[in-house]
Amino acid sequence: MNRWIDKVAIVTGASSGIGVAISKALVLHGVKVVGLARRLDKLQEIARELGKDKFYPIQCDISKEEDILRAFESVEKQLGGVDILINNAAVLSSALVIESDTEEYHKIIDTNLIAPAICSRETAKSLRKRNAYGHIININSITGQFAESVHVPISMFGASKCGLRALGIELRHEVIALNLNIKVTNITPGVVDTEMTRSLLKGNKISDLKALKDKDIADTVIYVLRTPETVEIPEITIIPHKEIIGLPKFDV
Ligand SMILES: NC(=O)c1ccc[n+]([C@@H]2O[C@H](COP(=O)([O-])OP(=O)(O)OC[C@H]3O[C@@H](n4cnc5c(N)ncnc54)[C@H](OP(=O)(O)O)[C@@H]3O)[C@@H](O)[C@H]2O)c1
Repeated sequence: MNRWIDKVAIVTGASSGIGVAISKALVLHGVKVVGLARRLDKLQEIARELGKDKFYPIQCDISKEEDILRAFESVEKQLGGVDILINNAAVLSSALVIESDTEEYHKIIDTNLIAPAICSRETAKSLRKRNAYGHIININSITGQFAESVHVPISMFGASKCGLRALGIELRHEVIALNLNIKVTNITPGVVDTEMTRSLLKGNKISDLKALKDKDIADTVIYVLRTPETVEIPEITIIPHKEIIGLPKFDV
């Protein structure tokens, strides 16, 4: 990880769950982290814990392009640009597509798919301007790869995560076409014990499921960042040991 010391990472959704764990792991390895999320108080709490010169909170609703552009501008001015992008923020819903209005579709697609595309574009711009090397990591979900194995309604979430996987493949094509020094990795976790899972489980208990810990995903991020410059990991699927790929059946 030495080559990332003092480099800058933007982590979207850094106010809870996996985003916090990734931010902590990056800071531990000497990376300056800019955490984006809507809940500023949560981000400020993390800044107090990690240190204000190590974790920089920016309030940002990533479903709004102007918020994202403002955040990237501020990173450019304060820290000189971004080297690592972790597209982690997402919203989950158990609404039914056939009973939802179009606004609900936009909320999910704008946050889970359009925002990662905008953030990737702005990261690539920053890297190209400085002729720097970088890494874009998309935190996906088993629904993005094995949608059939998740047999509960999750609205447009599955569609957004399938799209996110395709976005990563497209970015890799563009990196090759333009001969850029940017790696792109899609990390696909199974169930992780976070606020998001608890909201989906409703009355069901997380202890009834075998679940990963947020730190397991953070360790995976460090693993892919650690690869030598000549090595790229395009895909990683990570599930709890002795568990199926997908969700076990539970009441909804
Ligand atoms: N938990 C799982 O079982 C699991 C499994 C596979 C993949 N994942 C993926 O892991 C990632 C993190 O999920 P998690 O489990 O850690 O969920 P979480 O605890 O609910 O965290 C979601 C994060 O996204 C942020 N966010 C949501 N909408 C946003 C918006 N419009 N603008 C800015 N930030 C926004 C939230 O911050 P604010 O509310 O403060 O804005 C929060 O920090 C997601 O991509 C998820 O799909 C999770």
